[in-house]
Amino acid sequence: MDGNGRWAQRRGLPRSEGHTRGVDTVRSLLTRCRTLGIPYVTVYALSRENLKRPPQEVKFLFELFIRFLKSELPELERQGIRLGMIGDRQALPMTVRAALDYGIKKTSGGEMLFTLALAYSGREEIMRAARALTASGLDDSAPLEAQEKAFRKGLYNPELPDPDLIIRTSGELRLSNFFLFQSAYTEFYFSDKLWPDFDNAELDRALVHYAERSRRFGLTEAQAVTNDACTGHTSHPPPSSPPDAAILPDITS
Ligand code: IPE
Ligand code: MG
Repeated sequence: MDGNGRWAQRRGLPRSEGHTRGVDTVRSLLTRCRTLGIPYVTVYALSRENLKRPPQEVKFLFELFIRFLKSELPELERQGIRLGMIGDRQALPMTVRAALDYGIKKTSGGEMLFTLALAYSGREEIMRAARALTASGLDDSAPLEAQEKAFRKGLYNPELPDPDLIIRTSGELRLSNFFLFQSAYTEFYFSDKLWPDFDNAELDRALVHYAERSRRFGLTEAQAVTNDACTGHTSHPPPSSPPDAAILPDITS
């Protein structure tokens, strides 16, 4: 999510107002994704680099996370949305960690996983994973699949499948240190909308864009249609609620 600050500045408001409005976007996006049966949603809420912003903005963001974690818990529980976190916990204040731990415990029964990326850095995650691979004792002679498995054990959440779709808002065309390893075959949707303006209609446009992609994972079109790797790459569990077929084209055709 990007563009909270610009959204506020264009209205002559403090940047913090943009962040506050950004929370409303997260809330409606989550509900929409839940309705559609999307099993994994990750929000890049704070990068490791964002921690170097002016201290009062970082402090405001931490307070906002805590408020969000408290106020949204009943709704997350009601909708069966499970909270998760990826990123460097040690870089977060105790108060944020405590709110996260409480929220993660409270919502653990949910089936859709909503992950907050906080103090997250894709490069740092790759270095963690490299250490896990080294610690596994596997060397170059081991099969590549076994090496990748050992490497992935060092990712912040090894259970999290690679993202099928990454949406970036605010017109920026870069990854900014997000899911560098996991995005090898991810589809991308770049939206000009600033995060507080990113509504369900724009989310639906992103999903339609995704549904129209031909995902071949390096294979030929002919191979791809018969290859499981191209249709069930991330082996998602089936959604519990039926997708809202009205807005999405038939992706099997
Ligand atoms: C994204 O909005 C939210 C966070 C990084 C917390 P920004 O704060 O990056 O907004 P812009 O890019 O300055 O408009
Ligand atoms: Mg930004």
